[in-house]
Amino acid sequence: MKMTPPRWLLAGLLAISCLPLWAKDTGQSAAADTDPRLQVEASLDSKFAQGKYSPKGADTCLKCHDAESSKPATGIFHNVHGNLGNPNGPMADKQCEACHGPAGNHPRNPRKGQQREPMITFGPNSPVPVEKQNSVCLSCHTDAKRMAWHTSSHAVEDLSCTSCHALHQAKDPVLDSKLQTATCTSCHAEQKADLHKRTSHPILNGELVCSSCHNPHQSDNQASLKQTTVNETCYECHAEKRGPFLWEHEPVTEDCALCHSPHGSINQALLNKRVPQLCQECHSVPHANVAIPEGDLKVRGGSCLNCHNQIHGSNHPTGQSLRR
Ligand code: HEC
Ligand code: HEC
Ligand code: HEC
Ligand code: HEC
Ligand code: HEC
Ligand code: HEC
Ligand code: HEC
Ligand code: HEC
Ligand code: HEC
Ligand code: HEC
Repeated sequence: MKMTPPRWLLAGLLAISCLPLWAKDTGQSAAADTDPRLQVEASLDSKFAQGKYSPKGADTCLKCHDAESSKPATGIFHNVHGNLGNPNGPMADKQCEACHGPAGNHPRNPRKGQQREPMITFGPNSPVPVEKQNSVCLSCHTDAKRMAWHTSSHAVEDLSCTSCHALHQAKDPVLDSKLQTATCTSCHAEQKADLHKRTSHPILNGELVCSSCHNPHQSDNQASLKQTTVNETCYECHAEKRGPFLWEHEPVTEDCALCHSPHGSINQALLNKRVPQLCQECHSVPHANVAIPEGDLKVRGGSCLNCHNQIHGSNHPTGQSLRR
């Protein structure tokens, strides 16, 4: 893992041009003396200002953070960030310090009574402000998918990238179709409950994931959907519902969610309400001139559908009332 001197010289120069948000933010107020959070910030600022990166990169760190240590770090070498051959990855340049910031005096044993200089840490318990944590990741992840991160509800709620992503293990759970749901529903309790109702999208078994429909990094669309509207999202997999139909059912072309709950429902087919109540919300006085047997409506809830079975639209010449 040792770097040849010319490469590290280059790395040092690069460091000046592609520092994350940290570098711009120098100077702390006097409150830094007392507030531990500000003390950490001040210490990190000063390390960034000095740009003291460890000349031996990861080799320095792994002396103390090997697999046996109380804070092991070797897991990173089992995923893409530990890939020594990727020219755009952390290991090609500053290695551990690409994310954790310049080592400064951290690797040296602190003198008696002194604290070890802090490094950038991540997650909700880190003293490092979320915006600055995220700026580390965004200094490399500036691709189209992350460009609009600041617009996302998750950014507005001050989530860090590491609220969802775990970087020191072989497989980031949120990128695994079987494990993603647990990450999302650890905060989204309502959707978690929906998944266990009578009908739901096959999310619990990993056939679908939350990110089949949502973009967690961006909120240009309603409910951070991947497509511009609810319907466009649904058509991605239920293309046959798009039509065009000779006889359309107005609410279907307007918004599937007028009748369906996308995450789960106590009713059949993800319906918001049972039939006939669902229909009667909008059709208060059906059938001035069609006799429906009383029992049909009361006993069998689905009876509107017994006759109006083309509820999403009909292509039959006489299909205006969605019966064929
Ligand atoms: C001489 C041993 C030693 C070396 C070398 C060392 N560390 Fe540490 N590091 C520690 C110890 C001990 C702690 C725990 C400090 C504590 O809990 O207060 C720690 C904590 C950390 C933490 C968590 C910080 C926190 O506030 O909890 C990170 C991140 C870290 N080190 C990264 C690095 C990186 C990156 C390098 C290489 C540039 C490195 N360390 C080199 C001993 C070392
Ligand atoms: C791509 C960014 C990245 C790189 C590169 C990276 N880390 Fe980390 N590191 C993180 C994140 C994010 C966490 C928070 C825990 C997690 O996501 O697994 C973390 C956690 C840690 C911790 C535990 C801190 C704690 O509070 O317990 C240590 C120690 C650490 N890293 C050291 C290292 C060392 C040493 C290297 C190099 C071998 C390294 N890291 C490379 C992003 C990175
Ligand atoms: C030094 C640049 C750099 C930094 C800093 C960095 N990454 Fe990456 N990251 C990469 C590269 C390169 C890849 C691989 C992309 C590829 O090969 O397409 C990657 C891949 C990823 C992936 C996909 C992983 C996979 O298994 O496919 C995630 C998620 C990710 N990074 C999150 C983060 C987060 C969160 C942070 C901040 C804690 C971060 N990255 C910091 C360069 C970086
Ligand atoms: C709310 C959870 C969540 C947060 C917060 C989050 N991500 Fe992600 N990220 C995901 C999910 C889910 C995927 C996989 C699905 C996808 O690609 O949209 C992913 C995929 C990725 C990927 C790799 C696959 C790709 O899309 O190219 C990268 C890189 C990444 N995220 C970076 C980041 C960065 C950087 C941040 C912080 C600015 C961040 N993420 C914040 C959930 C999250
Ligand atoms: C650490 C907690 C946390 C995690 C983990 C998390 N979220 Fe969120 N999410 C929030 C908060 C807080 C909001 C804003 C309040 C709300 O709408 O519930 C939010 C909002 C949303 C919204 C509504 C966005 C909008 O624009 O209206 C969607 C959709 C969403 N999250 C999906 C996801 C998905 C998918 C995942 C997993 C990849 C995920 N969340 C993981 C906390 C989290
Ligand atoms: C099949 C597509 C689909 C899947 C999969 C999906 N959602 Fe949604 N989600 C939607 C749609 C559509 C809406 C908007 C509903 C509306 O506007 O009535 C939505 C809305 C949301 C909202 C905002 C709710 C509100 O009241 O504003 C959150 C939060 C959310 N989803 C989280 C999740 C989580 C977490 C998962 C994974 C467990 C998930 N979604 C899976 C389609 C989906
Ligand atoms: C990523 C693909 C995907 C997307 C997007 C999607 N679905 Fe589905 N949907 C499925 C799968 C898979 C099933 C399971 C049944 C099957 O195999 O057709 C399903 C089943 C359903 C069912 C029947 C459920 C039952 O228990 O009878 C309804 C209703 C439904 N989806 C409505 C919607 C609506 C409304 C949207 C848009 C908010 C949507 N779907 C978006 C994949 C998707
Ligand atoms: C007016 C209410 C209503 C609207 C709006 C609606 N649906 Fe439905 N949908 C139903 C009813 C009722 C059923 C149950 C049909 C049955 O059991 O025969 C159903 C069943 C389904 C099913 C499962 C059975 C099948 O036909 O494949 C899917 C998938 C589905 N709808 C998708 C959608 C999509 C996608 C949209 C938006 C384009 C949508 N629905 C809009 C009422 C509606
Ligand atoms: C969100 C409101 C809404 C819901 C729910 C709804 N509809 Fe409709 N429906 C409409 C609108 C609007 C039209 C078109 C205007 C009209 O003719 O009343 C329509 C048209 C129809 C038509 C064709 C009328 C014609 O001959 O032109 C039938 C049949 C119908 N709906 C049956 C149903 C049934 C059965 C259900 C329950 C499964 C249902 N609708 C649920 C709003 C709704
Ligand atoms: C026994 C079969 C049958 C059942 C059950 C039935 N309908 Fe109809 N419906 C019809 C027929 C036939 C027409 C066409 C009448 C016409 O063309 O004059 C119709 C027409 C309609 C229309 C068009 C407007 C109107 O009043 O003519 C609506 C809306 C409608 N039905 C809604 C419903 C709803 C809601 C239910 C359940 C509460 C339901 N229907 C149950 C046979 C049925």
